[in-house]
Amino acid sequence: MGNLFAKKSLNDMTAEANEKGAGTLERVLGPVQLTMLGIGAVIGAGIFVLSGLGAKTAGPALMLSFVLSGLGCAFAGLCYAEFAAMIPLAGSAYTYAYATLGELIAWIIGWDLTLEYAMGASTVSSGWSNNFVEVLNIFHLKFPLWLAYDHWTGLRQATDTVARKMVLAAHPGMVPGTGAFSDAMDALKAAHPAALTTQAHALLNAPHLFGMEIGINVPAFLIALVITVILVIGIQESAKFNGAIVTTKIAIVLFVLGFGSHYVTKGNWGTDWHTFAPFGVGGIGLAAGLVFFSYIGFDAVSTTAQEAKNPQRDLPIGIIVSLTICTLLYIGVAAVLTGMVPWREVNIEAPISRAFLDHNLAWASNIITIGALAGLTSVMLVMLLGQSRVLYAMAHDGLLPRKFFGDIHPRFRTPWKGTILAGALAAVVGSITPIDDIGKMVNIGTLLAFVIVCIAIIVLRKTDPDRARPFKTPFVPLVPILGIFFNGYMMYKLGVWNWVRLVVWLIIGLVVYFTYSRKHSKLQQSLEAEGK
Ligand code: ALA
Repeated sequence: MGNLFAKKSLNDMTAEANEKGAGTLERVLGPVQLTMLGIGAVIGAGIFVLSGLGAKTAGPALMLSFVLSGLGCAFAGLCYAEFAAMIPLAGSAYTYAYATLGELIAWIIGWDLTLEYAMGASTVSSGWSNNFVEVLNIFHLKFPLWLAYDHWTGLRQATDTVARKMVLAAHPGMVPGTGAFSDAMDALKAAHPAALTTQAHALLNAPHLFGMEIGINVPAFLIALVITVILVIGIQESAKFNGAIVTTKIAIVLFVLGFGSHYVTKGNWGTDWHTFAPFGVGGIGLAAGLVFFSYIGFDAVSTTAQEAKNPQRDLPIGIIVSLTICTLLYIGVAAVLTGMVPWREVNIEAPISRAFLDHNLAWASNIITIGALAGLTSVMLVMLLGQSRVLYAMAHDGLLPRKFFGDIHPRFRTPWKGTILAGALAAVVGSITPIDDIGKMVNIGTLLAFVIVCIAIIVLRKTDPDRARPFKTPFVPLVPILGIFFNGYMMYKLGVWNWVRLVVWLIIGLVVYFTYSRKHSKLQQSLEAEGK
């Protein structure tokens, strides 16, 4: 019958981590590359896009939302660092749960991580596509709407375009992006829904298939495929590609900070607590939950454990240094953004580049748009890298088909089949589904993994206190408890619908576990052989 909460022995895991030669992953990554991978996964859509909504939710106190969210990540990051150094296997949170909380919880976390990595990559691919269309606009090139968005998003964009034109015609002095302009657009949509929809369909001008209007996000599809090819070709190649992009995006963020600070008006930050935090502590908490997305990804460093040259020393460095750099940059960007533009007027779609445009700095705005495009590329790369490694680890334990997900390419030394499947999934989801709701699931899925890793640290300190820990989380149990509290609070703030989605996703996972994984689990088979 087996035991649902059977734990994998840490000694077996250590032996596995030391496997070498053909059929294993290639150990090539050093501390700098690992840190770059962390930054590569982190800086992306969150800061370049979601900071706008964050500013509208918290006001200038958005800076504090980034601090709050960053603290939650720091507590979890310190726990990840302890595990990553102690159990340097590719499964990350899945592996840590297997050693401490047993197979069922490990499975749940492995399944949950697909929300962070594969769905994260899909979400970012859609943001990538928006940026790509913007970059084409800079060069006066137009991309047909029905080839740039899934059907539903395309229709919404077309409706917005029509409404914008009508508002501009009716109120020539009104500035797009302001609160008054959005209100006028909403009023128009409510007053003439049918007329707007007819005009939007005409603008979309999409061909039909089986009586349905087609809408495919072609850029999102193609970028996912290009990244998949790079990932299959090799970890060294992927790390080099990531390194070049990360250098570019750090330069862009420093440009925003350095150049943007000249356009900051201190009055925009407010003059007292009420003008600094117009929605109070609740608004700061809500915005922290939103901008949490901008921190997601530093944990992906731990999925490269079997590709690191010296994982015990370098994984904690990669996780902690990348998170520290990104936190400081984010707080700075939030300060500059809310200092450059009064928070009510911050743009939601491209807040940072629009802030520069508002100061008539079109060239700077264009540089940021191009930089953001580069930034999103590496986020997708590291997310898909992480996904294929978690699948690899689960297959190694027999919870997923080993021949497929565990197969290492003889020449490239990458888990190529799992990489291709994850990339194809991200390409399809990113190109035909309206991505907003999926994006929200990424946050809750990641937060759940963080909470479990914090719990697991406390458990293992009790059950195996003497094991060698090359990196020790400081102040245990305080730090993991704070991690559980901060990340749990952000989960709570995400609201009931996200919880429902999470639970549905996990139930699907449990069906897979009980119909396939449990029967094929190597651990369950060995327990049965031992008559346990
Ligand atoms: N942190 C990543 C981003 O903001 C997921 O795009």
